[in-house]
Amino acid sequence: MENRIAASLKILTESDKEACETVRISENEPSVGKKTLFIESYGCQMNFADSEIVASVMRNAGFATTSDAENADLVFLNTCAIRDNAEQRVRTRLKQLNVYKRKRPGMLIGVLGCMAERLKAKLLEEEKMVDIVTGPDAYRDLPRLVEEAETGQKGVNVFLSREETYADISPVRLNSNGITALISIMRGCDNMCSFCVVPYTRGRERSRDPFSIVKEAQELFDQGYKEVTLLGQNVDSYKWNGSPEGGNEAAFTQINFARLLEMVAQISPELRVRFSTSHPKDITDEVLYTIKKYDNICKYIHLPAQHGNNRVLAIMNRTYDREWYLERVDSIRRILGEECGISHDMIAGFCTETEEEHQDSLSLLENVRFDFGYMFSYSERPGTPAAKKFVDDIPADIKQRRLAEIIEIQQRVSAEKNQKLIGTVQRVLAEGFSKRSQDDLSGRSDQNKVVIFPKENFKKGDYVNVLITETTSATLRGKALIEEEVNQY
Ligand code: SAH
Ligand code: SF4
Ligand code: F3S
Repeated sequence: MENRIAASLKILTESDKEACETVRISENEPSVGKKTLFIESYGCQMNFADSEIVASVMRNAGFATTSDAENADLVFLNTCAIRDNAEQRVRTRLKQLNVYKRKRPGMLIGVLGCMAERLKAKLLEEEKMVDIVTGPDAYRDLPRLVEEAETGQKGVNVFLSREETYADISPVRLNSNGITALISIMRGCDNMCSFCVVPYTRGRERSRDPFSIVKEAQELFDQGYKEVTLLGQNVDSYKWNGSPEGGNEAAFTQINFARLLEMVAQISPELRVRFSTSHPKDITDEVLYTIKKYDNICKYIHLPAQHGNNRVLAIMNRTYDREWYLERVDSIRRILGEECGISHDMIAGFCTETEEEHQDSLSLLENVRFDFGYMFSYSERPGTPAAKKFVDDIPADIKQRRLAEIIEIQQRVSAEKNQKLIGTVQRVLAEGFSKRSQDDLSGRSDQNKVVIFPKENFKKGDYVNVLITETTSATLRGKALIEEEVNQY
């Protein structure tokens, strides 16, 4: 039987916030005679990309993926540790899984990812139902750890590597729409933002071989994919020195993020390229000019601000100030035009934040007028510089109120900006049916805005010019235009 790439993955993103959790389940992989694996992913896009590496490693060890957690032989939770509520969700899920495990004692449960790395073997003491604990750099070791666990021994590997990029592992695309895919271009983070646990859970920053990245993107394009998103915690510090495989010393080359973007964009004008995350301190004009040069590099930049006040930015150790951030935004708009989409991350209620300093975050939102934002209240993470140096002294109700004020402004600005798009034509890559109706297709504009339009004779994978007729703060609606009509707008 054809060994089709099909799998299951329940996706809970760190940006989805507690209230709205995205769940995507697709068909099962043919599993006759094989053991079954259920993977559930939490956290950022990098974690979803990692789950695809894990599925590949485990497929080679004889496991087929399933969407049925209750009857799986092996259950992996690929976890996030960024805020306390991300970890609490995992603990609640483990309790549910324990009910299945009591019915089927042979079931093995593994905790992978950032929470596994943060808590290490302690997790085995705290959560007795867990058999395997594996950090983000140890996924090649999973088959051995599973084998050990099958003999009743608990398995832990939380070794963090300085080299591992999984460059040679061909990911099994989980829950894929067949149109958009994630590609990790680097791992880890060398910044020391004082609030952030990522440097401790993901280790040192390292860049993946660019030729393996281009090869993966080319293969995706050959399979019919139309969009790739290049992922790193700080893509602007991507740096690789070497020569292509089999190349001699004369072919030695240095590749930065601008060059990598260009290499991927040159695969085909029909392959859209996105990337995330840009760091305000590192994003260069060279990158912006590369985006400008290629129509297929999306005019959309996620540029986390975190705060609008210089004293708070300094104790967050973001290494830029408000003026620098605003200058970067100005450069984006100068080079790429006003229509380039810009989104942000913002934290409310960081240690010692005063009411006036909070007002500076609000004024930053009013000044920049971002298209979109991911907004959080500060959650102290054990072991981080902020946890060691400062007291988490803003009461929960004040954090919540400040967060609500940030969200309110962002929603209003998003709605206003979207409204301005009424009457414009957006080039949309159709990704599939809209959630509500099989008569509508859903896709994203260049600026990463969700656009819904009547299906007519279009199908997923098509680039469609859509005349925008209605908007909310979250989505745009419109009608597809034919070629001759586009020129009228
Ligand atoms: N590498 C990216 C961010 C990765 S984490 C960057 O540098 O911007 C995603 C977001 O989670 C961060 O941008 C930040 O806004 C938020 N975040 C990280 N740690 C947090 C904490 N302790 N409490 C609340 N939000 C946090
Ligand atoms: Fe965390 Fe800062 Fe690294 Fe982003 S750049 S992952 S916020 S330490
Ligand atoms: Fe969470 Fe780890 Fe990503 S902490 S946000 S899954 S890098």
